Amino acid sequence: MWGRDAAERYDAEETEMTSAPVLGATVGFLAELAGDGRALEFAIGTGRVGVPLRERGVPVTGIELSEHMAAVLRRKVDEDTLPVVIGDMATTVVPGEFSLVYLVYNTVSNLLTQDEQVECFRNAARHLRPGGRFVVELGVPPLRFLPPGQVAVPFDVSERHLGFDTIDPVEQILVSHHFTRDGEDGRYRRGASRHRYAWPAELDLMARIAGLERDRRVADWDGAPFTQDSPKHISVWRKSA
Ligand SMILES: C[S@@+](CC[C@H](N)C(=O)[O-])C[C@H]1O[C@@H](n2cnc3c(N)ncnc32)[C@H](O)[C@@H]1O
Repeated sequence: MWGRDAAERYDAEETEMTSAPVLGATVGFLAELAGDGRALEFAIGTGRVGVPLRERGVPVTGIELSEHMAAVLRRKVDEDTLPVVIGDMATTVVPGEFSLVYLVYNTVSNLLTQDEQVECFRNAARHLRPGGRFVVELGVPPLRFLPPGQVAVPFDVSERHLGFDTIDPVEQILVSHHFTRDGEDGRYRRGASRHRYAWPAELDLMARIAGLERDRRVADWDGAPFTQDSPKHISVWRKSA
């Protein structure tokens, strides 16, 4: 999934996820939680968030599975400024203690079993200093849009992109399908990513298993209240002091 082509395309174009308002709010939220301490980003990717957070003055370390994604990050910032360890965020241990561990952009759902997701929470807790926080940004499973008998939920129908999710509620697996028009010749590139979705309440339980307690849950990086209609949440758990 995260090979060379995907890495080169990932944040090359201006989209909502790379826009100044969204990134500014994301970095502001995380910087406040990091305080005077260090931050660890699980699945740091190309450094979309980690690099501006580092520029804001927060020391950031990353863990990333894809060497291709990390190579794009490395073109933006050197190893001394922002170290990255290649490995699995559920199990990889890096030196030091952190006031903040964060895992954004739905990436906890890339871990496809409950056991791996629990391990990921445990790994976050392992890296936190007492009182430190773990932040997860994740979509709310779109099951309200899936009437009985229907298997797919469209999430984007535009000139350049058709996107829909297929959902297996028994296995709690969602596959996001993308058809993206690349050039002017009218051809579409197909891509798909597999996710294990989880309700916020399941994440709260994973946090508890890892020795973390809920600090807050909001709907976006500006801190809007999380409601029954929120399509995603940003959840913060704290390690006991
Ligand atoms: C949607 S991108 C998010 C990247 C970055 N956090 C951001 O917000 O732009 C997902 C990233 O997760 C990485 N990833 C997926 N599974 C992982 C795992 N088990 N451990 C570490 N990284 C993982 C992928 O290689 C990819 O870089």
